[in-house]
Amino acid sequence: MSDHKVEGWVAIARSKAVRTKPLRVLAGGRAFVLFRADGRLHCLADICPHRSAPLSSGRVVSGAIECPYHGWQFDGAGLCKAMPGLTGAMPRTLVPSYAVCEKDGLVFFSAQVANDDPYTTVLAAGDTVSMMVESRVTSSLAEVAENILDATHTHFTHKGILRGLSAKRYKVTVTVTGGDGWVEARYVGEPKQEGLVSRLLEGERSISIGRFRYPGIAELEFWGAKSINLATTFHLRQETADTVHGFGILSGPRQRNLGYLKALLFKPFFRIALRQDQHILHAAEKNRRLFGERRQMFGPLDIMRPHIDAILARQRPEVAEKPAVLVMEL
Ligand code: FES
Ligand SMILES: [Fe+2]
Repeated sequence: MSDHKVEGWVAIARSKAVRTKPLRVLAGGRAFVLFRADGRLHCLADICPHRSAPLSSGRVVSGAIECPYHGWQFDGAGLCKAMPGLTGAMPRTLVPSYAVCEKDGLVFFSAQVANDDPYTTVLAAGDTVSMMVESRVTSSLAEVAENILDATHTHFTHKGILRGLSAKRYKVTVTVTGGDGWVEARYVGEPKQEGLVSRLLEGERSISIGRFRYPGIAELEFWGAKSINLATTFHLRQETADTVHGFGILSGPRQRNLGYLKALLFKPFFRIALRQDQHILHAAEKNRRLFGERRQMFGPLDIMRPHIDAILARQRPEVAEKPAVLVMEL
């Protein structure tokens, strides 16, 4: 599925990455240009209708973006305002434009009508501390979302970082529920884990939740006795057929200023974990291509993937009608 067919908001840039210079971003195998003019943020298809030059290589002049090839200028709505050298009437010329908005440090765009506010993170409101990381991986969106929400890979891919070094597992009850455009797995019975990150951050853990939301949000919540200790929210998008890009927001309660300290300490580990996932996803994708293999086996513990696939195909996940409950050792 490509992102220009996606309904709703997709995170495509960090707000601070869009200054006066136009910024090219990829989504769904297409290129878009973001630029600020007259104090507003705009998003156009990054292709000049004249001879196809990327508008993002041009500059912003008098409230419009100027093509670097022959200097045609387009306003924020994509309407051509100037064709240098032309003395007669200007033909009506348009570049496709897209809705954009900014929230919590991210720029969102929508190829279709989007009336609601974009979702950023479960901890967006309230007294929280958050940090953002970016990551790019050779894979598909469903594969990356599954990886983020998959509790069974952490013992191996992230041994010692997210999990303890011991092979000890605990019986955990998992309940999978869902609705239109979302699915979540709730894990109860997991004791505090022994990995470095868990030790550092989490304190008492009661439940944890992994959730996928259309069109590409993968979110983990780690709960203490009464509230969320830590949440990681990934905004994923398929940039091209080959790559997936993600903005990861990690957030936690401010706890006076302890929250900042924890977030600072957590960031390097978060990056290591991301690199480990990047590495294994890349190796798996390369291997699929080598073998010409697209089929995959769904194991009995792959509780999220069928629902992620259904949601991406705009179907209601099966668990929306009937929650699934199972016990596994994690
Ligand atoms: S290609 Fe853009 S003005 Fe000619
Ligand atoms: Fe992982």
